[in-house]
Amino acid sequence: MSLYKKIKEVRNSFRADLDSFISDQNDIGPIRIKYLGRKGEIAQLFSELGDVEPNERPEAGKLLNQLKIECTKSFDEKINTNNNAHESNKESHEDLTLPGLTFPLGSLHPIQLVLDEIKDIFKSIGFSIAYGPEIDDDYHNFQALNIPKHHPARDMQDTFFIEDNIVLRTHTSNVQIHLMEEKSPPLKYIVPGRVYRNESISFKSYCLFHQVEGIYVDKNVSFSELKGTIEYFVKRMFGKDVKIRFRPSYFPFTEPSAEVDIWNDERGQWLEILGCGSVDPAVFENVGYDPGIWQGYAFGMGVERIAMLKYKIGDIRHFYQGDVRFLSQF
Ligand code: DAH
Repeated sequence: MSLYKKIKEVRNSFRADLDSFISDQNDIGPIRIKYLGRKGEIAQLFSELGDVEPNERPEAGKLLNQLKIECTKSFDEKINTNNNAHESNKESHEDLTLPGLTFPLGSLHPIQLVLDEIKDIFKSIGFSIAYGPEIDDDYHNFQALNIPKHHPARDMQDTFFIEDNIVLRTHTSNVQIHLMEEKSPPLKYIVPGRVYRNESISFKSYCLFHQVEGIYVDKNVSFSELKGTIEYFVKRMFGKDVKIRFRPSYFPFTEPSAEVDIWNDERGQWLEILGCGSVDPAVFENVGYDPGIWQGYAFGMGVERIAMLKYKIGDIRHFYQGDVRFLSQF
């Protein structure tokens, strides 16, 4: 085979080797040695130069030199681009001086914040905390609270029935009954929890919401004591300049009964936040307490209402949409 042909073949195989070279899988050293080493392909061709006809030797020598230069240049280029790739890899993945990634912190839900505050205030004046069932029977949610079947007072609370006699509780007042059935008087509890009502959904009504119930039973508990307690609570919750009024009302399980409103400056109107009253003797009879000995007061407040007033939230549905833009403000 002529030297010219061999030069051509070495060039082709060199290019093929260089093209298939993948930086991280092979070491470029062996390819370099194969072509440019002291006993490499190109050196071999140089040694064959002596066999070429003297008149063709200068031309062949020139071609061989060109091949050698071409190979050297290609290697240098390849090595440079590999090094650059390594450098930029290091920068994007391994720069230990870059600041770490920060994780977005969550925040407490406004309902949770208000619940915590309500609990703290009542704990500080001697109330304990109790919880009760969200799914309950008709008896505890209604009948024992002096709301017989077919009584018009049931209209106040559109109810989700699970079975004929099983309901999603419409208020936390069911836990008044459970507590009094389980414990003997005196007792002083608040009961935070979820309640459910089959109401049409709007800016002020949702199918579920939260209440905090309160029940205090002892000897000589007066309505004015109830007023003092509620007033103390409202002032701690909204500040001492808050405007508050007791409005006579009706609940089957309290007598007398009242609702408490708070003046909302933005809207220029009173907003109801709770119902309350002196425990009706009929309720005491249902749980086996002697109404001749025991007296008590009870109240039930709407937590969403309080949160809406406190944080100036115009629509109850915000609490249940899980929108981070809303939640992260608290
Ligand atoms: N359970 C009533 C409601 O959901 C609120 C209420 C009123 C609770 C008077 C009470 C109470 O304990 O004494 O509307």
